[in-house]
Amino acid sequence: MARILITSAIPYINGIKHLGNLVGSQLPADLYARYQRGRGNEVLFLCATDEHGTPAELAAAKAGKPVADYCAEMHEVQAGIAKGFHLSFDHFGRSSSPQNHVLTQHLAVKLYENGLIEERSETQMYSPTDGRFLPDRYIEGTCPNCGFENARGDQCDNCTKQLDPVDLINPRSTVSGATDLEMRETKHLYLLQSKMKDQLEEWIDTREGWPLLTTSIAKKWLTDGDGLQDRGITRDLNWGIPVQFDGAPWSGMDGKVFYVWFDAPIEYIACGKEWVEAGKGADWERWWRTDKGADDVSYVQFMGKDNVPFHTLSFPCTMLGSGEPWKLVDFIKSFNYLNYDGGQFSTSRGRGVFMDQALEILPADYWRWWLLSHAPESSDAEFTWENFQTSVNKDLADVLGNFVSRITKFCRSKFGEAVPEGGEYGDREQTLIEELSTRIRAYEGHMEAMEVRKSAQELRAIWVAGNEYLQSAAPWATFKEDPEQAAAQVRLGLNLIRLYAVLSMPFIPGAATQMLEAMGAQDAAWPGDVAEALSALPAGHVFTVPDNLFRKITDDEREDWQTRFAGVRD
Ligand code: MF3
Ligand code: ZN
Repeated sequence: MARILITSAIPYINGIKHLGNLVGSQLPADLYARYQRGRGNEVLFLCATDEHGTPAELAAAKAGKPVADYCAEMHEVQAGIAKGFHLSFDHFGRSSSPQNHVLTQHLAVKLYENGLIEERSETQMYSPTDGRFLPDRYIEGTCPNCGFENARGDQCDNCTKQLDPVDLINPRSTVSGATDLEMRETKHLYLLQSKMKDQLEEWIDTREGWPLLTTSIAKKWLTDGDGLQDRGITRDLNWGIPVQFDGAPWSGMDGKVFYVWFDAPIEYIACGKEWVEAGKGADWERWWRTDKGADDVSYVQFMGKDNVPFHTLSFPCTMLGSGEPWKLVDFIKSFNYLNYDGGQFSTSRGRGVFMDQALEILPADYWRWWLLSHAPESSDAEFTWENFQTSVNKDLADVLGNFVSRITKFCRSKFGEAVPEGGEYGDREQTLIEELSTRIRAYEGHMEAMEVRKSAQELRAIWVAGNEYLQSAAPWATFKEDPEQAAAQVRLGLNLIRLYAVLSMPFIPGAATQMLEAMGAQDAAWPGDVAEALSALPAGHVFTVPDNLFRKITDDEREDWQTRFAGVRD
């Protein structure tokens, strides 16, 4: 039994995520976790909310709530929605947890002791009106690069250039609008990433089989030098992990917290501690410390492409630089973007479908199937309502749903609600078994390789094979001439439902569970020998006809939704 550690990039706390966010990390991570559990491996699947930084503070201010309360509430909201999408995290933690405070401070001390953190004085924008420094998004002004008037302190939304607040022309506070800003000296901690360049490069060069999307992004940052500049890892904010604490080797850092991108990935590990302390697991170190058994673990991270530099460079820099035996990632699966109906999903403009809205209109499986079968792997992908309607109606309703309904209803009407006895599997059945054997092994190969779209295609082909068998065997016709033969065909069909449930569980866990329950199947083990798997339900085994698994999306609904999600959500 292999041990597989899986993390999904942790979603920001401010607001509900859209479907593009979902398909870029949490959903494919869940697919892989469910598959590996299905194969009988030991899996630890962790995710959390990313709760620090200026976006969290600003969102809380907008909601008129203390930031701690806001985060606690939004965490529950996101956890509920994750459940609604059947995301099977072993633990859904919080980057603001006490565990993460302790671990982040611990790692900062280690880095400092190893000469990788140093104090630097710099000038920063200070607002006397607000009585505070204005980091990142607390300041706006005109972009020195393109002239856009509402550029943020950390980045211009118009030309995407990364900025420093002191570069802005006509800067103003986003808290009060004050423009009487002044430059003040202040101290910050810097992570000396440049010192780690060779070690990181060597580590990246020795990663085997990483996807091109991942390594090319990492290499670009390494060789351009951009990603490996020394980085300020502290900020003048109240909300976050305090930089000044008992036993800190520095002083004069009161009122400062660690930068959100420093503590967020550390939460992957702290989340393991949270998992144990929540009573859900016994030992987190055997997953995370190579001196405590994590050498045997295979660790896979899932994320959108914009997160790759942080996971290939910054976070490994923290881990390696600590000099402690932390488990490093073995494989990074990254995704391109999902666009929405001719444009981009936009959180600020409310354009596109958000996770809560999706669940209000259709069950999770419909979305899971479409998103995964159209995952933005080799290039960006696009959600359109037409495409969604076609996929759901064809793949789920016409192919899988119809298969299940036809065979169970036919059996009930002719043989009753038990697997019929008599007859034998002949050539046609043998041919089907051979085709399924080949396809199931191919499906496994794609799932192991995390080729999400290819896996979906193969699964669909597996469903189609059953439908075609049913079409050509036509037990309803056979029954008139040779009821024994029809009994064998139906027996095979019912067994296929159980097999399909097992194979489909990673993609559509809701429907798959319904199928297993309807078949009264105790055994949900992954199929080895297909012929054997197709005799798991013996003659006489009792089943029930399930409710319709999938309904079709009508043209009216499609048009209605298209208008409804075109923009502006309040
Ligand atoms: N919150 C970030 C995002 O949504 C992801 C953080 S991943 C972690 O882009 F590594 F920092 F944890
Ligand atoms: Zn600009």
